[in-house]
Amino acid sequence: MDKVNKTATLSVNGKTIELPVLQPTVGPDAIDIRKLYSEAGVFTYDPGFTSTASCDSAITYIDGDKGELLYRGYPIEQLAEKSHYLEVCYLLLYGELPTPEQLADFEERITRHTMVHEQMHYFFRGFRRDSHPMATMVGVVGAMSAFYHDSTDISDPWQREVAAIRMIAKVPTIAAMAYKYSIGQPFIYPRNDLDYAANFLHMCFAVPCEPYIVRPELARAMDRIMMLHADHEQNASTSTVRLAGSSGANPFACIAAGIACLWGPAHGGANQACLEMLREIGSVDRIPEYIKRAKDKNDPFRLMGFGHRVYKNFDPRAKVMKESADEVLDLLGIKNNPTLQVAKELERIALQDDYFIEKKLYPNVDFYSGIILEAMGFPTSMFTPIFAVSRTVGWISQWKEMLTDPTQKIGRPRQLYIGHTRRDYVDLEQRGS
Ligand code: CMC
Repeated sequence: MDKVNKTATLSVNGKTIELPVLQPTVGPDAIDIRKLYSEAGVFTYDPGFTSTASCDSAITYIDGDKGELLYRGYPIEQLAEKSHYLEVCYLLLYGELPTPEQLADFEERITRHTMVHEQMHYFFRGFRRDSHPMATMVGVVGAMSAFYHDSTDISDPWQREVAAIRMIAKVPTIAAMAYKYSIGQPFIYPRNDLDYAANFLHMCFAVPCEPYIVRPELARAMDRIMMLHADHEQNASTSTVRLAGSSGANPFACIAAGIACLWGPAHGGANQACLEMLREIGSVDRIPEYIKRAKDKNDPFRLMGFGHRVYKNFDPRAKVMKESADEVLDLLGIKNNPTLQVAKELERIALQDDYFIEKKLYPNVDFYSGIILEAMGFPTSMFTPIFAVSRTVGWISQWKEMLTDPTQKIGRPRQLYIGHTRRDYVDLEQRGS
């Protein structure tokens, strides 16, 4: 496919230069400015990358105006209804839906890699026992490069593949261990007779002293949460993984960097922050006060779980999540859940408010996910680790794609320098107090 058949003309510093315009299979064109500095001596300036494409990618596509999300071309709503997480992982990693044989082989490979090196159990003991599970995960996933040194050579496609399988298989085990450690319960080993989501619930909620039966409906809801979070093109944590990987860093270090970035409340940390906000609001009659605060320029408060850099329409994941929240609460017989009532009323009021309409602020994926996870029995501190478990496949798929991209270079943005110009050093005794 020829990606270039148009050019853009830029006049700057008395020079006129032609810049190629790259065309994607779908979505807006991108002006290729790679030669801009060498030909015109200027940089572009785009803090937050609001108008900058940092790479080619064939994995995920978002149409923010339509509220559409596609994994390898397949709409998220279809996948959430008909597929399951490990099939979605295969799709993201290898580009196509698997045949039954390919899926069985992939599931077998993942299932056979879910245990972690036994010595890792002792590694956990170095953390304070009340550590946030995200803090523990950043450290333990980073430490995988020490435990699995035989899959850190990024120039070897086989080692890259092994590292990918290991991470998809072991990150849920690590997240569950981080949780168990934080509540002082023994680690629960993975069980190969359970599917991916059911096994995760088992590792989180079982205890050695009694049997724990995973309810299939809850495993299905967990699986759906995982599918909805599996990838989201060049978001902050994925870009972090790519930037870390662009230096040639090993895959475990790159994913640990992604987990660290995900933790922030503007990104994956929003699910925890959102549920805390809904609880703080507490009752429907207090909503107007919080809407007022969210609109006040002098108040740093924002409606958590609202707004998105790319979606300027409903986040399609939020729609599926809302349905799932109703189903799970029904299933568990939770009637008149005050948090869900506040969430629904907050959504209704915000969507009629001029401020939110004008700024195109809609509920995002984090708005309803916390309600489901809380109903399942997870504390808020586990919400972002579950996001990290689910997103691991997206990070790895993007990392693998980057390493085979011939245009890939070390990521190294430039800057608009606004500091002092050159000046001479002043000896200490000559500086006034
Ligand atoms: N509540 C109130 N006002 C908001 C909100 C919000 N949640 N989000 C954006 N705005 C306002 C913002 O103040 C700004 O107003 P103005 O133009 O007057 O300065 C305008 O909307 C544009 O916001 P922005 O911060 O410039 O937009 P952004 O694309 O940089 O930020 C965002 C996107 C997701 C960080 C932001 O909407 C936000 O902070 N939302 C709350 C946190 C959240 O839910 N994050 C999860 C995102 S989805 C999952 C994920 O990425 O992990």
